[in-house]
Amino acid sequence: MYYPEELIEEIRARNDIVDVISSYVKLQKKGGTYFGLCPFHNEKTPSFSVTPSKQMYYCFGCGAGGNVITFLMEYENFTFREAVEHLADRAGITLPKEEQSAEARRQADLRSRILEVNKEAGKYFYRQLKGRNGKRAWDYLTGRGLTEETIRRFGLGYANMYSDDLYRYLKQKGYSDSLLKETGLVTLSEKGGRDKFWNRVMFPIMDANSRIIGFGGRVMGDGEPKYLNSPETKVFDKSRNLYGLNYARTWRKPYMLICEGYMDVISMQQAGFTGAVASLGTAFTPGHANLLKRYTSQAILTYDSDGAGVKAALRAIPILKEAGISAKVLNLKPYKDPDEFMKNLGAEAFEQRIREAENSFLFEMDVLHGQYDMKDPEQKTAFHNALAKSLLRFPDKLERENYMEAAARRYSVEPEGLKALVNRLGGRTGLAAVSSAPLRESRGKKPKADGIRQSERLLLTWLAEEPAAYDAVKDILSPEDFSEGLYRRAAAMVFEGLEAGTLSPAGVLDHFINDEEEYREVAALFNTSLPELTKEEREKAFSETVKRIRRRSLEEKSRNVTDVAALQALIKEQAELSELHISLN
Ligand code: UTP
Ligand code: MN
Repeated sequence: MYYPEELIEEIRARNDIVDVISSYVKLQKKGGTYFGLCPFHNEKTPSFSVTPSKQMYYCFGCGAGGNVITFLMEYENFTFREAVEHLADRAGITLPKEEQSAEARRQADLRSRILEVNKEAGKYFYRQLKGRNGKRAWDYLTGRGLTEETIRRFGLGYANMYSDDLYRYLKQKGYSDSLLKETGLVTLSEKGGRDKFWNRVMFPIMDANSRIIGFGGRVMGDGEPKYLNSPETKVFDKSRNLYGLNYARTWRKPYMLICEGYMDVISMQQAGFTGAVASLGTAFTPGHANLLKRYTSQAILTYDSDGAGVKAALRAIPILKEAGISAKVLNLKPYKDPDEFMKNLGAEAFEQRIREAENSFLFEMDVLHGQYDMKDPEQKTAFHNALAKSLLRFPDKLERENYMEAAARRYSVEPEGLKALVNRLGGRTGLAAVSSAPLRESRGKKPKADGIRQSERLLLTWLAEEPAAYDAVKDILSPEDFSEGLYRRAAAMVFEGLEAGTLSPAGVLDHFINDEEEYREVAALFNTSLPELTKEEREKAFSETVKRIRRRSLEEKSRNVTDVAALQALIKEQAELSELHISLN
């Protein structure tokens, strides 16, 4: 970490988490905690909590949690450093100036250095495109209908014929081999560095904040592979970024357009539809949907009109729905993709197709309908059954009936008959069982270990919320008594902080910043919901919790000792532990 820990602590202290999050999420106070609708998943009732005493947020629904810094990292897609700088600025704290020496650069964190190299590479490709040797690439792009302004706006470029010139250029700028390797722009071998991209037109891939996180390169004309893309790196996670979002995020219409490719996004945006984004040939993921959810609640799918495009749309619809985004499907026929459509029919015709975009459920049913021969009574019946079953996906009665009505009209089914069929199937399977929401996965996993972990989480939350309780714990428990590595490390920091009287749960979290999974777990450690109990019940619950943790630790120790005297001592302690009453003060 580049900034000293005390400085980060100060920045955090001067940015109250409730203030910061309030500017993104509407919060309501309940007791000592604030609640609101979680910005990281879709929900109708608030399970997102912000606790001033801990300076942490935590969502009981999706498990997202952290401190004020990670909130900005998650929400704004900032790096750690950017989040810190943003907050320092907000609180009027002046940060020490970074010296531009090579040494200082080496110290800056890896992510921002990769971004810096990407930016250099992007500028380099752009210069090549505009330069004398870039004529073929320039002609290729303008030949495909892109204007100079569009080329500039998307920062398109050209990787020339030489297979190591970018490598040499970046080396001469002072970047090390090990860093360049991390960017995925070069490959290194005994023979030296080689560029990943050459003789291609280049499409920089930017995140929502217009930072270049990777590249796609297209052959000019035919050739395999048509597009070559950067590998995933520390800054490039394909399942969580959408091409074009840096512009789409400020588009003012209530919907966004989702398509497959670079050229589709660029063509649509050039035609004025700046709400176009693409998942770039990879399947649309829940990560994409959650990202989109921050900006819109309505998606219009403009996938290719071929079989692959229809399949991709069918896969994306439930993912969007799960994230709370309603979907419609746009018909591009007779053209293959938005780029071709725009070239042939233009923006006005496209606008018309947007108005006519099909409701996603009816789109799905049309595809289904196409699979049955409606002239054959047996197949026709099978279609009706499949349709009725699909209608059961709508748990809400009124909504279900609206769709039932629309489907009955569209496929000429007798409405009462369809309704009876839906009700019969619903009665048999039970509505809940066919609801499209997936079951929460965590349930039922590792039940036994979960019991003790639950106790350990409870205790750490307790200590974070009531530091005074530490006095009752410190002679009985030590961090080593916790059941596994991560909990032990977190407990060690908590105990140390309590011992010194300076515990900051939000500060403890920063130590886990480099591992997303650990980070989430530790955030959860401090946010177990404490049961509401009477004073006596609390005493008892606290005492039992501490004893349970110590008991498990003693059991583990006794399993591992070989020496009889030591074993006897452990048994004695176990017996004493049962008698012990741990009082809260
Ligand atoms: P398409 O094959 O539909 O290409 O792939 P396109 O976007 O229409 O491109 P043009 O118009 O022929 O130039 C859709 C997307 O899938 C990814 C790219 O992101 C592309 O934009 N793709 C495709 C690859 O990554 N590699 C490939 O070889 C092909
Ligand atoms: Mn295409």
